[in-house]
Amino acid sequence: MRALILAAGLGTRFKGQKPKVLYPILGKPMVWYVLRVLKEVETEGTAMVVGHGAEEVKNIIGNQILYFYQSNPKGGTGDAVLSAVDFWRDYDGYLFVLNGDSPLVSSQTLKSMLRFSKLVEEYEGSKLSGLILTCELPDPTGYGRVLKDQRGRVVGIVEEKDAGPEEKTIREVNAGVYLFYCPHLLETLFMVNPSQITGEVYLTEVFRLMYEKGYDVRTFVAEDPTEVLGVNTRWDLAVAENVIRLRLLQEWALKGNTIHQPESVWIEPDVVFEGEVEVYPDVMLRGKTKIGRGVIIGKGGVVENSTIEEGAIVEPYSVIRNSHIKQGAVVGPFAHVRDGAVIGEGSHVGNFVEVKKSNIGKDVKAKHLAYIGDAELADRVNVGAGVVFANFDGKRKYKSSVGEGAFIGSNSLIVAPIKLGAYSYIAGGSVITKDVEDGGLAITRPKLKIIKGKGKEKLLDG
Ligand code: UD1
Ligand code: MG
Repeated sequence: MRALILAAGLGTRFKGQKPKVLYPILGKPMVWYVLRVLKEVETEGTAMVVGHGAEEVKNIIGNQILYFYQSNPKGGTGDAVLSAVDFWRDYDGYLFVLNGDSPLVSSQTLKSMLRFSKLVEEYEGSKLSGLILTCELPDPTGYGRVLKDQRGRVVGIVEEKDAGPEEKTIREVNAGVYLFYCPHLLETLFMVNPSQITGEVYLTEVFRLMYEKGYDVRTFVAEDPTEVLGVNTRWDLAVAENVIRLRLLQEWALKGNTIHQPESVWIEPDVVFEGEVEVYPDVMLRGKTKIGRGVIIGKGGVVENSTIEEGAIVEPYSVIRNSHIKQGAVVGPFAHVRDGAVIGEGSHVGNFVEVKKSNIGKDVKAKHLAYIGDAELADRVNVGAGVVFANFDGKRKYKSSVGEGAFIGSNSLIVAPIKLGAYSYIAGGSVITKDVEDGGLAITRPKLKIIKGKGKEKLLDG
């Protein structure tokens, strides 16, 4: 079996700048989901018909598949399949044709369709010419309707735009997913005339011709009606995204993870859970993110392209990007960890702390209001409230390093490039511009003056 994806349409109803199939669903182009499903069914080759925005599609999808170009952007789905005729003309087997805007079809369904075609061959001794994935929808508006004769054989498919009032009442719709026996498709597709109304060559017209020739075309009803959803408008995109999102959350839940209030949780398809993860409402887990066993992600947490190791806790409303949180560390609430930051085992990065491109060792504490940028902090360093690593002089960035067990008092400014030794002690409120040796104490403070009675005098006389 081979597979052909149609992705050359103009997407007029979508009203977008880029090709419709590239618009994202959970951070991945819509057509990525179709490709993923095809990988699971293991085709003997996959191709895609591109047209509008062809280069952009190729750049994003890459050369894992073959491409065919449809030169007439208004040619229609039949013209699109013909544009790739070299892909299937000499193939004496089955071809899946899938609309690139049908991202919800599952690999189980495609596998069942294939199995069904094989069973027909085995028990009836003849090949199916076509198998159409369909579904009965309560509201079939917008979809092609499947016409059947009294014996239940497929007579044809009528498009919404061409359908008469009676045909519009038919609720069995075409999902835009078909299995064709190539020699029979070849025989009929070249004979399809363009629609009188739209001028497009509809792929769906082959079924009328196949019926006339007495070829065997059947429908395969999708078990789950969400599988047939085609994305034509931005609202369809939102609906499709919701369906995919909930399917994925359900998978994680059934594998033994807790998802609180799933309607508000966003987990992208490349995210991996290692087990017993607990996710609170309004969480977003994005990109290539790995979440270790027993991790808790508190409400409103955003984690992107990051690794969170076993037993770590991300307290509410923290943002972690391109970073690594090691075993048992605690981040947040309201923390920002970014750009390759590493938070060591058992360390705490608390509220209103930002850590950028810094390597933080084990059992470090920076619990409140600090900026740690371009710094190396060894194990057991204590960073007080309001500490700032001043890493930028307006032109260039500089690095800091802090030795094991050092103590940086509240509201200190550590001006990089700088090195604070192991067990050094920075007194609160100091501005440190020179290296401090191991075990040294550094203090820069204006002298404190206390004038007797002056406070009361100011308050009462002022
Ligand atoms: C199509 C079906 C309709 C079905 C519905 C399911 C036809 C004529 N109609 O309608 O029966 O119910 O899908 O979602 O096939 N494309 C091209 N070249 C073209 C036109 C379209 O490659 O010239 C591609 C599009 O990029 C898209 C797919 O084919 O991925 C379907 O095209 P679209 O215009 O969305 O067809 P529908 O009106 O949704
Ligand atoms: Mg469509």
